[in-house]
Amino acid sequence: MRPLGASATPDSGGVVGKNWEQELIAKAEQRTALIGIVGLGYVGLPLAAEMAEAGFKVLGYDVSRRVVDTVNKGVSHILDVPSERLARFVKAGLITATDDEGRLSEPDLVAIAVPTPLSKTRDPDISYVLSATQAVARHLRAGQAMVLESTTYPGTTRDLMLPALEKSGLKVGVDFFLAFSPERVDPGNQRFQTRNTPKVIGGITPACTRVVTALYAPAIETMVPVSSPEVAELTKLLENTFRAVNIGLVNEMAIVCDKLGVDVWEVIDAANTKPFGFMKFTPGPGVGGHCIPLDPHYLAWKMRALNYRTRFIEVAGEVNSQMPEFWVDKVVHALNQQSKAVRGARILVIGIAYKKDIDDIRESPAIDVVRLLQEQGGQVSYHDPFIPEFKEDGILLSSVPLDAATVRAADCVVIVTDHGTVDYAMVGREARALVDTRHAVADRAKH
Ligand SMILES: NC(=O)c1ccc[n+]([C@@H]2O[C@H](COP(=O)([O-])OP(=O)(O)OC[C@H]3O[C@@H](n4cnc5c(N)ncnc54)[C@H](O)[C@@H]3O)[C@@H](O)[C@H]2O)c1
Repeated sequence: MRPLGASATPDSGGVVGKNWEQELIAKAEQRTALIGIVGLGYVGLPLAAEMAEAGFKVLGYDVSRRVVDTVNKGVSHILDVPSERLARFVKAGLITATDDEGRLSEPDLVAIAVPTPLSKTRDPDISYVLSATQAVARHLRAGQAMVLESTTYPGTTRDLMLPALEKSGLKVGVDFFLAFSPERVDPGNQRFQTRNTPKVIGGITPACTRVVTALYAPAIETMVPVSSPEVAELTKLLENTFRAVNIGLVNEMAIVCDKLGVDVWEVIDAANTKPFGFMKFTPGPGVGGHCIPLDPHYLAWKMRALNYRTRFIEVAGEVNSQMPEFWVDKVVHALNQQSKAVRGARILVIGIAYKKDIDDIRESPAIDVVRLLQEQGGQVSYHDPFIPEFKEDGILLSSVPLDAATVRAADCVVIVTDHGTVDYAMVGREARALVDTRHAVADRAKH
C-alpha cells in the first residue's frame, strides 16, 4: 500500500490527501477537466462529442487501432455523430483518440463504455468490462473519477470494479471516485440524444455521486442522482426489461389476433385512444440490437445465482425470439396463395438493420428471417440503404436497389425493418405478395 501523502503516480501528480472532491467539481465548472472515454462505439463516441460540445477536452481510448485512426482523422464510424461534427472537434484539439493504455492516467474522469454481450450459453460476458477496469486500475492516480456506462448486472460496479481499483491503496470517495451511470442512447432517435436524455448516476459514496454529477452536468441537460450504483444498474435493467416484456406482450397479441382473424394494429390504435393506463408498443419481427435482447438476461443470470427465476424475462424472450418463424410462416402462406413453394421462390427482404434508420445488424431478427427462408430453399435478396453488405451466419448478400422492377420481380416481398427512405406506396402497389411485419405500407397510406 502506498503511504498517505505520497504521490500516487508521480508523473501525473495525483497527490493523496488533497480535497479531490472540491478540485474535480471546480475543474468541471471551469471545463478544465480532461474527460477520458474508454470504448469509442455507439455509446462512447456520442458521449465524447457531447463532452467536447460542452467545452471539455476529451481523450478517447480504444483497443481498436482502426477506431483510433478514423476518429483522429475526424471520420466518424457512428451515424449519430456526423463526420463534420467530429472533424470540427478533432481540428479544435478537443477530441483525441489513443490506443496507448499508459495515457489512462491523464483524464480526470474516465467513462467506460465497452461491450457487454452474452456468451454462447446466454450468460453475461463481462470480459470487456473486466479488461477495461484492469487497464484503468493499472494507471489509477489520486484525483480520478471512474464511471461505468456499460449495461451490466447489479453489483458489477461495487463487486468487480471497486476491489480492482482499491488495490492501488487509494480510498474511494476520498482519493478517487466511482459511479455507475447507464447510457440510454437510442441510436437513430432524432428527438432524444445523449444531451437531452436525463442521466442517472449512482456513486459508491455520496461524494462519488456529487463529483460525477458535476463532471457530466455541463454536457447533459438533466442529471438524476440516485443513492447507489445498484439503483443505477437496476434502473437500466428495468427500462430494457420493460421494453422486452411489453414488446413480447404485443407480439403475443399479434399471434392471438392472427388466430382470431382480427387486425392487431387496429386493436392497438383503438387501445391507444385511452388517455391513461395504456402505452403503445407495436408488434414486429422480434427484437434486435445490443440492448433489448441481451440486457434482461444479465438480470436473469444474477437472479439465478440467488435461486430466483425471473419469469417475465423468460417468457418475453421466448415470444420475441419466435417472431421470425411466425413471419416466415406468413411468407409460406403468401406463396401458397400463388401455388408456389418457398423452394426456388424469389423473396425480397426490405430492411436488414435491427431497427429503422440505423446501420446496426447486431441481433437483428432479419438474420433469422433470411436464414429460415434460405434453409427452405428460398432465393433471398434484400434492400437496405444502410447496410450495403450483409455477412452473417454464413450468409453473404449485397443490397439490391429498390425500384418497381425489383419489387415486381419478387414472388414475395417481406418488410422486416421500416426504414424512412423506402417508398412504401410503390412497394404496396407493385408487390405480388407482401408480408409487412411493421405495418409500414398501411401506416404510410394513412398519413
Ligand atoms: N448501442 C446502444 O444503443 C446502447 C445503448 C445503451 C447502452 N449500451 C451499452 O453500452 C455499452 C457499449 O455498447 P456500444 O454499443 O457502444 O458498443 P460498441 O461495440 O459500439 O463499442 C465498444 C467499443 O469499445 C471498444 N473496446 C472493447 N474493449 C475495450 C477495452 N478493453 N478497452 C478499450 N476499448 C475497448 C471496442 O473496440 C469498440 O470500439 C454496452 O454495455 C451496451 O449494452 C448500448
